[in-house]
Amino acid sequence: MSNQDDQFKKVISHAKEYGYIFQSSEIYDGLSAVYDYGQNGVELKKNIREYWWKSMVQMHENIVGIDAAIFMHPTTWKASGHVDAFSDPLIDNKDSKKRYRADVLVEDYAEKLNQKAEKEIAKAAKRFGDSFDRETFVTTNGRVMGYHQKAKDATARLAKSLDADDLADVKALIEELGIVCPVSGSKNWTEVRQFNLMFGTKLGASAETATDLYLRPETAQGIFVNFLNVQKTGRMKIPFGIAQTGKAFRNEIVARQFIFRMREFEQMEMQFFVRPGEEMKWYHHWKETRLKWHTSLGLGEENYRFHDHEKLAHYANAAADIEFNFPFGFKELEGIHSRTDFDLKAHEEHSGKKLQFFDPELNESYVPYVVETSIGLDRMFLAVLSKSLQEEALDNGTSRVVLKLPALLAPVKAAIFPLVKKDGLPEIAREIIDELKYDFNVLYDEKDAVGKRYRRQDAAGTPFCITVDHQTIEDKTVTVRHRDTMEQQRVAIEELGELIGKAVSFRHWIK
Ligand code: GAP
Repeated sequence: MSNQDDQFKKVISHAKEYGYIFQSSEIYDGLSAVYDYGQNGVELKKNIREYWWKSMVQMHENIVGIDAAIFMHPTTWKASGHVDAFSDPLIDNKDSKKRYRADVLVEDYAEKLNQKAEKEIAKAAKRFGDSFDRETFVTTNGRVMGYHQKAKDATARLAKSLDADDLADVKALIEELGIVCPVSGSKNWTEVRQFNLMFGTKLGASAETATDLYLRPETAQGIFVNFLNVQKTGRMKIPFGIAQTGKAFRNEIVARQFIFRMREFEQMEMQFFVRPGEEMKWYHHWKETRLKWHTSLGLGEENYRFHDHEKLAHYANAAADIEFNFPFGFKELEGIHSRTDFDLKAHEEHSGKKLQFFDPELNESYVPYVVETSIGLDRMFLAVLSKSLQEEALDNGTSRVVLKLPALLAPVKAAIFPLVKKDGLPEIAREIIDELKYDFNVLYDEKDAVGKRYRRQDAAGTPFCITVDHQTIEDKTVTVRHRDTMEQQRVAIEELGELIGKAVSFRHWIK
């Protein structure tokens, strides 16, 4: 097992052990790619959502929020292109009866070649020591160049055939590369077919009169169909944005990597409406602004990178992902898309209603262009959780597991302990809780030795532990122990609110 796999397994089991994430309906053996958030998970998720909402809506005079319904008129999805084009190419193995995404089979094949190249590089690095020059080795070593070229050729051919909607060629490619089914080991493949990712459901009492509906696969369309409602009632002037957080549903075929790719997930999206011709300026603005939001959390700037799309969706004239260094490598965390006027125009056509803005400065009406920022809340949760989970060697030769969540996002901000369960100490601890609970999520713990209680809170991600001891009775001070440094300081009870408040305030974190 690689270090990456090992770290990822640790994240998954830690998430369960400390009440962050459970598999959905686990007592019935679970439901694939569907997860529940536990008592700590729900708080962390809420805090991430709030950090996004405050920085996008509250901090921008020209951005407002909405909460549109999950069910939408079915024509919405015709207009948006989801009925016709929101699909994945699937292939079945006739022996194992397992279904795969054809593009993922080819991408995995290419990834394996790249991993082989990495192994060669690592071997050489070890052999040459300090004198090793990676760049020179990668561009001159025949074996490494061969692996890279083969991987590149495979993905280029895949992109070309998918672009041309040539599914027969995708199958031919799988056969030519000799890709086998991971379960049966055979090359006995069916044709490749497109499979729509939207979940269908019905609205209405009887089978005859029921209307076919879809569970929304993205929250964005709820914003587009409300564009005019918000613009008019909010007297919004272009440029302005509409933000929304909420559930989205996709019948993902390759649903794996824990909460990275789920069938039911939550998005945080913002559509920014601009003058036609000004979209590139705003596209660059939002790319930078969103990256700043991510790095403000202090998880390490080196863990983010942009991936600019070369192949664009039919409605976009520019698109980029912010990728994050997950335990399984750099993968998409957020998308920033310049969507042109595609969506509003499509809704105009399908609804017969004008979705335009009268620009008083230009003295003309137009369909605004849109720059979208779209991030998966669950994916953001995984990014925060996986980077925060650390195992630290301690000076005394032992180690500790610590969840170094940004204090602003931590589910519980402080745990209050009486040193012993007697002498009036529990009563003082309860009084402190009664004071702090109005402003912060705090908890009481009196079980086990204090050292053990510290470890428990380290692993759960609580930034502060506050211990009430006999000195507290004399001078109304307590010991505050900091999660990340393990430093302890003596603090007056009446100063606790200010100390915690500073560490978790939005003002302190946002850039
Ligand atoms: N409105 C644009 C849109 O939906 P997308 O790239 O399909 O674009 C945006 O999705 C974000 O939603 C992704 O960057 C990812 O963070 C998240 N996301 C998409 N599918 C997901 C899934 N199956 N599970 C979890 N998050 C997902």
